[in-house]
Amino acid sequence: ERQKHIRNFSIIAHIDHGKSTLADRILEMTDTVSERDMQAQVLDDMPLERERGITIKLNAVELTYHAKNGEDFIFHLIDTPGHVDFTYEVSRSLAACEGALLLVDASQGVQAQTLANTYLALDDDLEIVPIINKVDLPSAQPDMVRQELEDMIGLDGDDALLASAKTGLGVENILEHIVTDIPAPSGDVAAPLKALIFDSVYDAYRGVVLNVRVHDGSVKVGDHIQLMSNGKTFEVTEVGVMSPKAVKRDALMAGDVGYITAAIKTIQDTRVGDTVTSADNPAAEPLKGYRQIQPMVYSGVFPVDNAKFGDLRDALEKLQLNDASLEFEPENSQALGFGFRVGFLGLLHMDVVQERLEREFNLDLIMTAPSVDYHIVKTDGSEETIDNPAAMPDASEIKEIQEPYVKAEIMVPNDYVGPVMELCQRKRGEFVTMDYLDKYRVNIIYHMPLSEIIYDFFDDLKSSTKGYASLDYDVIGYRASDLVKMDILLNGDPVDALSTIVHRDFAYERGRGVVSQLKETIPRQLFDVPIQAALGTKVIARSTVKAYRKDVTARIHTGDPDRRAKLLEKQKRGKKRMKAVGSVDVPQEAFMSLLKVK
Ligand code: GTP
Repeated sequence: ERQKHIRNFSIIAHIDHGKSTLADRILEMTDTVSERDMQAQVLDDMPLERERGITIKLNAVELTYHAKNGEDFIFHLIDTPGHVDFTYEVSRSLAACEGALLLVDASQGVQAQTLANTYLALDDDLEIVPIINKVDLPSAQPDMVRQELEDMIGLDGDDALLASAKTGLGVENILEHIVTDIPAPSGDVAAPLKALIFDSVYDAYRGVVLNVRVHDGSVKVGDHIQLMSNGKTFEVTEVGVMSPKAVKRDALMAGDVGYITAAIKTIQDTRVGDTVTSADNPAAEPLKGYRQIQPMVYSGVFPVDNAKFGDLRDALEKLQLNDASLEFEPENSQALGFGFRVGFLGLLHMDVVQERLEREFNLDLIMTAPSVDYHIVKTDGSEETIDNPAAMPDASEIKEIQEPYVKAEIMVPNDYVGPVMELCQRKRGEFVTMDYLDKYRVNIIYHMPLSEIIYDFFDDLKSSTKGYASLDYDVIGYRASDLVKMDILLNGDPVDALSTIVHRDFAYERGRGVVSQLKETIPRQLFDVPIQAALGTKVIARSTVKAYRKDVTARIHTGDPDRRAKLLEKQKRGKKRMKAVGSVDVPQEAFMSLLKVK
């Protein structure tokens, strides 16, 4: 009965089509947040999210809507990110919902992630409420978007609601449609507890906070709960909802979205996608979890100060709690000491994790250039997968190297077909098909090496199409390519953390690029530092960082000890993020400068 007045939904959209703005308007119009407290984009509460204006982590909030029929409804709004790197987070949010608001920008129309996210929602059997947003823009073309919704997604374009999340126009109507169009949850309150963990965070005082969607049964303080993946049991210390701050409740029941704390101190015990049940009256079967996502890129993460290895491990474990896509294992580098090989969904994800580690956990880190994983077929017939160029076997043992390939779908206005194809070709792409979506736009499909997509492909695509192209990609398998390992030698010694795997045709060009980048980032030392790029024993590029001619302080006369001390101090500070690699001091940026090479 109670469930009839609950609606659980997400907002899905292509990036920048206005999800966070709509969420803000909904919170405001339901008085969940007073106008005075209304900081723009309340759901994006990670400082990073605010700075970058993007949604990374999903968030759930409870609000009350007084409907036109006079009844009160409880809404749980679950926010989702829009960037192609974070599609996985979207599928997690959707598993907690019965419906989704599909938001499409009235001037941009259906884009790559509009489609990708719609397919995810349809996979989960969600009811979709199409909304054409930004109708206040002079460039809005709602009729064109209606047609696209019909042609490209198969929804009835006439059903689409018109709105402006910015001005609030049409938002009231959206709230009514949430009540009428999205089904109420239909779990069994009397059945044993079944709750899906869709997110979790670590809190120093309360332990792990589980964000759950209760599907069946109920849970209250004092109950004994059990995690179905590992059988561990805990006593519940608090339950509540986010509104948008945490608000304690007596119980959570079937249909609810809220949080549970149970003095869970061991982070490894809780896994996103796991089912929470009652220890005294356990459910027979867990809920369908999420498919485990595979990382796309790997990078070595090392503390500048080797003594911080343990702190780095703690920090990664805590981040992993609410970022299930993060994978890591210990790695030992000759050059950088002890650290971790970390798997990421993409470069944006990698950037976000680095910034969170540095800001939230106060760590100084060195990250090595990202790499995809490779399948190696050896001459003796055995096979192995490596995600670290340093681990590549000797060339004489290798029969074949296979790299991950993706199917890339690029949507773009007709006028830009030429530049897009040229770019894809340059990135070793193989043309598959091109379809006209309507009079103005085409969908171009290429098969491409993942390694060519993950770096700056998206930026290049945007700049060669004035920002009009949108991209979605999926890994389709591995293919043999003519790849070689390129080593970098500093002062004659190979530096394992600087090795990369490159296509043979581009090796010389890349070698020269890397060497000249390193020459710019490595400061002068007391001796000449030769920098070399090599394929096996064959040097393909070289350069030298010349020694200081004199001690920096030598020119300052002894009469000014103050200045001398200051100069030395400045030099020392500059060293903070340096790592002594053999006899050479290498700054943090040098390891990432490999990325800057075109
Ligand atoms: P991510 O969180 O990064 O996925 O983006 P988002 O979809 O949440 O987009 P967001 O709400 O941040 O909006 C993107 C931009 O569009 C912002 O500059 C908003 O101010 C603007 N915007 C959102 N809705 C409207 C609208 O109805 N009209 C107009 N003119 N601008 C809008």
